[in-house]
Amino acid sequence: MTAALARFARRTALLTAAGSGIGEATAHRLAAEGASVVVTDVDAEAAHRVAEEIRAEGGQARSRRLDVTSPDEWAATVAEITALNRHLDVLHLNAGRNLPGAAHELDDTSWHDQLRLSLDSVFYGVRATVPLLRAAGGAVVITSSIHAAIGFNGFPAYAAAKGGIGALVRQLAVEYGGEIRFNAVLPGAVVTALWAHTPAEYRARTAARTPVGRLGTPEDIAAAVAFFASDDASFITGQNLLVDGGRSISAHE
Ligand SMILES: NC(=O)c1ccc[n+]([C@@H]2O[C@H](COP(=O)([O-])OP(=O)(O)OC[C@H]3O[C@@H](n4cnc5c(N)ncnc54)[C@H](O)[C@@H]3O)[C@@H](O)[C@H]2O)c1
Repeated sequence: MTAALARFARRTALLTAAGSGIGEATAHRLAAEGASVVVTDVDAEAAHRVAEEIRAEGGQARSRRLDVTSPDEWAATVAEITALNRHLDVLHLNAGRNLPGAAHELDDTSWHDQLRLSLDSVFYGVRATVPLLRAAGGAVVITSSIHAAIGFNGFPAYAAAKGGIGALVRQLAVEYGGEIRFNAVLPGAVVTALWAHTPAEYRARTAARTPVGRLGTPEDIAAAVAFFASDDASFITGQNLLVDGGRSISAHE
């Protein structure tokens, strides 16, 4: 990519849960467009592998372990970026997992675990990084889910967590106004490790219910994250964008 087209030249991007799937694809995308990326994951080895791959492709990347549910690990991550004298231009808050369980069967621990990973983590991440993002005039992109927009059987805690992100991006966009932009992407069915154990027949049925006729790829979501994170979206904040091949607007059964 030429310097003129490198939307993230001289910018630093911090990504969470980037050792796999959507976060991994987004790290590659931002680095390919010139960003210096900090690849984090609770799985330090996975984050290390992704950073190595980006460097092998000629990009700039470092990695570290970050469990997004730990305020202490957030503080240590911010301290490392500060010590490196780096600004923070882009934050991709991407952690989440759809633990199933109908509401009448869900125990307290499962409910709270789900909210801690998928929603509390967003609060911890924003709280820790606002000073760095403010200094840079940064952009935050959060990975939400189609579950924030429409109901699916068996995922009340996941829907509540991702739905909470929808309200939070609007709130944060208002609160930090012209200093930091906040947006969320709502992926539909995207083939990542989350889908590793789903039967082929289920995948085919989901693709058939999706107007564009296929499941999503991590790269489909990375493209939307990169758009929100870039100056191309400098007049867009507080938005929740469905990136789902049209699944959520189709009555197709
Ligand atoms: N794949 C889909 O169909 C889909 C659809 C909608 C939304 N999403 C959302 O996209 C995001 C990424 O999902 P994916 O499909 O790429 O998953 P993935 O399983 O490919 O990757 C998830 C990553 O999260 C990491 N992780 C787990 N707990 C963590 C923690 N406490 N701290 C830091 N990292 C942690 C894992 O180690 C793993 O590397 C999630 O928020 C998910 O809810 C995915």
